Amino acid sequence: MSSDDIYSVRFVLDGQVHQARGERRTTTVLDYLREKMHRTGTKEGCAEGDCGACVVLVGDVSADGQAIAWKPVNSCMQMLPALDGKAIKTVESLQRPDGSLHPAQEAMARCHGTQCGFCTPGFVMTIAALAEHQAAPTRGQVNDALAGNLCRCTGYKPIVEATQQACAAPAAQRSLQDPKELALLKDIARPRKPSYNLEGELVIQPVVRTRKGSEFVSPSTAAELAVYLAEHPDATLLAGSTEFGLAVNKRYERPTYIAYVAGVAELRAVTQTATALRIGAAVPLDEVQALVTAQWPDFAEVLRRFGSPPIRATATLGGNIANGSPIGDSMPCLLALGATLLLKRRNARGKDESRSVPLEAFYTGQKQNVLQPGEFIESIEIPKAAGQSFRAHKISKRFDQDISATCCAMSWRVDGSGVLRDVRLAYNGLTPFPARAPKLEAVLEGRKPEDVTPQALDAAIAASFTPRDGLRATWAYRALVARNLVLRFVQPELQTEGA
Ligand SMILES: Cc1cc2nc3c(=O)[nH]c(=O)nc-3n(C[C@H](O)[C@H](O)[C@H](O)COP(=O)(O)OP(=O)(O)OC[C@H]3O[C@@H](n4cnc5c(N)ncnc54)[C@H](O)[C@@H]3O)c2cc1C
Ligand code: FES
Ligand code: FES
Repeated sequence: MSSDDIYSVRFVLDGQVHQARGERRTTTVLDYLREKMHRTGTKEGCAEGDCGACVVLVGDVSADGQAIAWKPVNSCMQMLPALDGKAIKTVESLQRPDGSLHPAQEAMARCHGTQCGFCTPGFVMTIAALAEHQAAPTRGQVNDALAGNLCRCTGYKPIVEATQQACAAPAAQRSLQDPKELALLKDIARPRKPSYNLEGELVIQPVVRTRKGSEFVSPSTAAELAVYLAEHPDATLLAGSTEFGLAVNKRYERPTYIAYVAGVAELRAVTQTATALRIGAAVPLDEVQALVTAQWPDFAEVLRRFGSPPIRATATLGGNIANGSPIGDSMPCLLALGATLLLKRRNARGKDESRSVPLEAFYTGQKQNVLQPGEFIESIEIPKAAGQSFRAHKISKRFDQDISATCCAMSWRVDGSGVLRDVRLAYNGLTPFPARAPKLEAVLEGRKPEDVTPQALDAAIAASFTPRDGLRATWAYRALVARNLVLRFVQPELQTEGA
């Protein structure tokens, strides 16, 4: 094996294993496709995950090992080394060897779903991903699937029609499966077990190492990650790349050491018991959405409105929490549900340490938290409380693909005498980091729902928060909806103004 082979990114494309050699750790998938592979069908619109012109499909071996699970992904946000051991399809991949088109391409042409054509490849890839599994999606499902693709020319009606027609094509034409690609993907899949040297020490082989010594590593276990971070406490963790991609594209950040955590087994694990749901920090949000739907449907709805399908396909729960944005959307739900984070690191004496930190004790300031050097979030545990009610709602200017003005979540139970107990209420957008609102909780605790008054909530809001107007909403509007959401949750029959 040559040294080039050691540091090459291997992925399956169009029935072959492709090796990208000598690339930087922060080369984006989009730049590599366009500049090195001349696959210029994939476009760059915004380079920040908003427009969908760059959507490609990225595939992993499915859970049952029988297929490639394809997901639409924003290639502008993904780093090329994260593609190692995966499969990819671009719009050029869809044309069949006999020159015929994929049903998504045919339907877009037939329905006049394209004008200037800049957005079209991204739409086609999104439609192809939906059509593979949906023969007759509802209008709502089509709208959801297309929420991450923008078109400035055509208007969405022809594109929605094209999506429905593509989905109605025979299953064999819609399938993206190829047994040869599946076999190749299994061949190049990244190792699931750690490697040791003769001294029995863990060896973490980089995916990319530059001549100057910068690295991109992709460990497969939490032990490897802990060892790497103990050696490189300044390494940047990379999960779904939806924040990191912005740092690379817009702020030109080039961290020396990057540790990709999305392949770490413990961070992808999910455990369900009767009393708790434990979600690995690197589980992507589309999977989290499916996990919480039955128990906490409002949490699932908040996640359905989180970014767009290609964002949720990679963005992780741990990344949302660690990023700590004041308007992070998962946190109000997790705070209201009493979630706890399991943190891990290898200490200076070489011992692995774990600690549990309630999410409400995690943040110490705006975008600041209690993580020690070399420490990472392994999982998030959400307790399932008997008799608990849970509500959550996100307020934003647009319904889809928008960030919160505020998101409010609340859990409680009603005791035998009809009063609210164990109230936990949390918001984003009102404080430097998402937080519980103890003064509002005190207004609710021990009261009958019908006795909760707007005046008492307004007084608690005024006493709790520093009024701040922002780009997304004035303070007056935020305070109004902060109050009305609580009233709606406990008095669902009430008609409120502003919410
Ligand atoms: C177009 C677009 C729309 C978006 N919409 C929303 C939205 O609606 N609501 C919302 O809340 N956010 C939104 N975001 C922000 C972003 O998608 C989320 O914060 C996302 O959850 C980040 O997760 P990630 O896995 O992509 O993180 P990354 O970009 O991979 O990492 C983010 C940060 O978390 C750290 N990190 C990651 N994993 C761990 C870990 N296990 N332990 C410790 N640190 C870790 C990284 O080092 C980094 O500092 C949007 C972003 C974009 C680009
Ligand atoms: S270029 Fe706009 S989402 Fe990637
Ligand atoms: S056809 Fe021009 S942007 Fe969609």
